[in-house]
Amino acid sequence: MLPIYDQKSRIKLLIVVLALVIGAVTVVYTNLLVSRLAEREQQQIDRYARTQRFLIGTEQEDATTDFLRTEIIMENSNVPVILADGDGNIVDSRNITMPSGLNEARRQAFLQNEMEDMKEQHPPIVIKIGGGLRNYIYYKDSLILTQLRTYPLVQLGVIASLAVIAYLVFSTSRRAEQNRVWVGLAKETAHQLGTPLSSMLAWVDYMRSSERFAGEEVVEELDKDVKRLQIITERFSNIGSVPVLKDENIRDVAERAIDYLKVRVSRKVAFKVESLLDPETTAKVNIPLLEWVIENICKNAVDAMDGRGSITLIIRHGGRNNRQIALDITDTGKGIPKSKFETVFQPGYTTKKRGWGLGLALAKRIIENYHKGRLYVRWSEVGKGTTFRVLLNG
Ligand SMILES: Nc1ncnc2c1ncn2[C@@H]1O[C@H](COP(=O)(O)OP(=O)(O)OP(=O)(O)O)[C@@H](O)[C@H]1O
Ligand SMILES: [Mg+2]
Repeated sequence: MLPIYDQKSRIKLLIVVLALVIGAVTVVYTNLLVSRLAEREQQQIDRYARTQRFLIGTEQEDATTDFLRTEIIMENSNVPVILADGDGNIVDSRNITMPSGLNEARRQAFLQNEMEDMKEQHPPIVIKIGGGLRNYIYYKDSLILTQLRTYPLVQLGVIASLAVIAYLVFSTSRRAEQNRVWVGLAKETAHQLGTPLSSMLAWVDYMRSSERFAGEEVVEELDKDVKRLQIITERFSNIGSVPVLKDENIRDVAERAIDYLKVRVSRKVAFKVESLLDPETTAKVNIPLLEWVIENICKNAVDAMDGRGSITLIIRHGGRNNRQIALDITDTGKGIPKSKFETVFQPGYTTKKRGWGLGLALAKRIIENYHKGRLYVRWSEVGKGTTFRVLLNG
């Protein structure tokens, strides 16, 4: 089976290809219609011209001329035409929609204008009327033909805007749904852990004060584990509600998180925390959540190094106008290919046998949604290492 991300991008590709094919087919088809219609209109005009020639050349007035006048000339019910004499005076016009309420002078001016337009579209048809005099037939594409010419553009525009709207609706509703799942699950977890935890705390307190367990190492160990569980519960409860942000010294937070991790990973991994900031500088953060982020990024760093290398945390100014606080976490691990700089943050993306692909997705949510900061891969080279940057607001 294909990994879910490959499948998804295949489906997206398929949809794009399908849309392109539909677009191309309609454009080709409408062009075909346009050229057929244009041909028909040309024939109509030619017939109109021939009829005019005949009518002008004949003196007789009978059923035939009557027929020609009414049937052929009227047959053209949509191509706009103007018949003018050699001096440019308008003799007849057909299928021209004029604004209502024009007086005769204005009507003439309007028609003259139309005639100029027509000249630009098609050369006029000349009709010799004897005595060296000529009439001219001006014409232009019918409204239908003009509309049909622009139709593919309109249609492509409609398809494109529909696609954009569908994408927006789909992704916001999916995001809202994901949000509800994350938040709900976190709240519920914190809630469920709460009860046994408070009773365990009470038990540890009891054991501490009891003669029976005096001096037992197990009590201290149990105490540590219960405290850890408390921290975890606090994280879940913070992510399940609007977290409170406070001014904190980031170096202290980073050091605490590292102290916890250091003793739990291979001794061949060297940790270093360094701050280039004034010691008083603070950023607005929620400690349990930021610790969680640092832990996730550092755990990945350890995994990327096969247990040997160094992890350096540097705190400095960065981001917008250099006014934000940047925490750069650099490892000497296997690196991330450039094409995966964004993908690593997608929930479910993992290259590990036992990974869930959730660590970085969660970290990004914590930084971007809860702290209004940014989290991204700042640098990485395959085989050399990686730097993740956390940007926080001061
Ligand atoms: N420092 C790093 N160096 C190299 N690759 C990394 C690094 N950090 C993350 N990755 C890559 O990004 C993927 C996603 O990381 P993420 O933390 O989201 O999930 P995971 O560690 O695989 O699983 P989980 O954190 O849920 O246990 C990892 O599987 C790994 O391929
Ligand atoms: Mg991870």
